[in-house]
Amino acid sequence: MPASVIVGLQWGDEGKGKTTDFLAEQVSTVVRYQGGDNAGHTIVIGDDTFKLHLVPSGVLYGHITPIIGPGVVVNPATLIREFDGLISRGIDVSRVRVSHAAHLILPHHIALDKARESALAGDKVGTTQRGIGPAYEDRAARLGLRVEDLLDPASAAARLARVLPEKRALLAALGATDYAEAVDADAVVAMIATWGERLRPHIADTNDLVQRAYARKEHLLFEGAQGAMLDLDHGSYPFVTSSHPIAGGAATGGGIAPLQIDEVMGVMKAYATRVGSGPFVTELTDAIGERIAVTGHEVGTTTGRRRRVGWNDAVPLRYAVELNGVSSIMLNKLDVLSGIPEIRLCVAYEIDGRRVDRWPASSADLARATAIYETFPGWEEEITNVRAMADLPVNARRYVTALEEVAGAPIVLLSVGPERTQTIERAWRPLRHGAR
Ligand code: GDP
Ligand code: IMO
Ligand code: MG
Repeated sequence: MPASVIVGLQWGDEGKGKTTDFLAEQVSTVVRYQGGDNAGHTIVIGDDTFKLHLVPSGVLYGHITPIIGPGVVVNPATLIREFDGLISRGIDVSRVRVSHAAHLILPHHIALDKARESALAGDKVGTTQRGIGPAYEDRAARLGLRVEDLLDPASAAARLARVLPEKRALLAALGATDYAEAVDADAVVAMIATWGERLRPHIADTNDLVQRAYARKEHLLFEGAQGAMLDLDHGSYPFVTSSHPIAGGAATGGGIAPLQIDEVMGVMKAYATRVGSGPFVTELTDAIGERIAVTGHEVGTTTGRRRRVGWNDAVPLRYAVELNGVSSIMLNKLDVLSGIPEIRLCVAYEIDGRRVDRWPASSADLARATAIYETFPGWEEEITNVRAMADLPVNARRYVTALEEVAGAPIVLLSVGPERTQTIERAWRPLRHGAR
């Protein structure tokens, strides 16, 4: 299995950090291929919790080369802060490589993200305000600065001299305040020079690193951020992120070719969550939703916002499995449902009196959809110490089987707690060295 992609099947925060960390033990390279520091991936090892935003989750293993690929948008300030945080905890970051072709998030992107959201008033996307959308806009407009520009402040200054007047006008038109420093070319060039000196040893042609590792038949893991339902083209536009979290994004943003990918592991939770605005057909606003949010600690890793919570929904799940070509699934957070008397699973939508099994192509249809549920009896037992499928309560097994059936792909890994070892392996092949 030389190249596997890990992809979120819902709206992000499915536990991709835990999944990547769990599988990383047996690989040589972990590559982030899209998104930026809007991501927040949590890894728990013993009593230690790590929250990673830009650095690939494989960094915690000494033998791995963590790569930030060309499809990622990089805020150098965040990256350096994350490096310093990891170094202070004894983690070696010297192996991290950042693509010379990844685009930079600069202060004016963050100012614009905030200004656009304010201007949208009641129609906010609910972005993480990390400048993600504006940085990808500049990439598409061929106005962006890239990581390689950190090494050439003079050329960066010339590019910024063309870009910043336009940004200043835009920020003023949007009614932004406090942006003077973000559009001050001298101040930004000074930052670029400092960032460049610090990041110089990490900047590389990561496509070459990926292809050479592949040629050596090493196993590479591509760590998606966000989730399929937040994909720019395939999610619930405009309530999406500005990149391609789907597995295909690994090919455009990670430096691997489609036919080199031979495994796509979809990651989902036992229920659903969403941060920010946008349709959420199975959303729970009652005491059960509150209970799941509290038990599951459903608070955003990046922004600290409370996540919206709902029942699992087979309609987007089937769509995400198709769109990503999912070959196996890791199901996380099953433990959070312990003690809930009755668990619901949305199996189809009702739109204008019709039953609809497929993800609606039109946003207007989606806005009118209501959930058709199947109900499953819950289980009382605490399951955080279970390590084999056979030891799960029978009702938990029934629910897992039902999820597997509606998803149409095998659930090969099950997580019953945040810690690395709170994991049940069902795969036909060992997923880790020395497993079983
Ligand atoms: P990601 O963005 O997909 O990596 O997910 P996040 O890290 O943002 O959110 C997942 C949260 O659930 C983190 O706090 C994890 O530590 C936690 N988590 C992951 N798997 C499990 C699990 O099986 N049970 C419980 N209770 N928590 C889990
Ligand atoms: P991980 O990798 C959950 C959401 C935001 C907002 C929308 C657009 O931890 O799963 P953006 O800042 O990207 O322009 O915001 O996308 N969003 C996430 N939601 N998990 C994430 O990342 C997210 N990254 C962005 O809340 O609705
Ligand atoms: Mg997250």
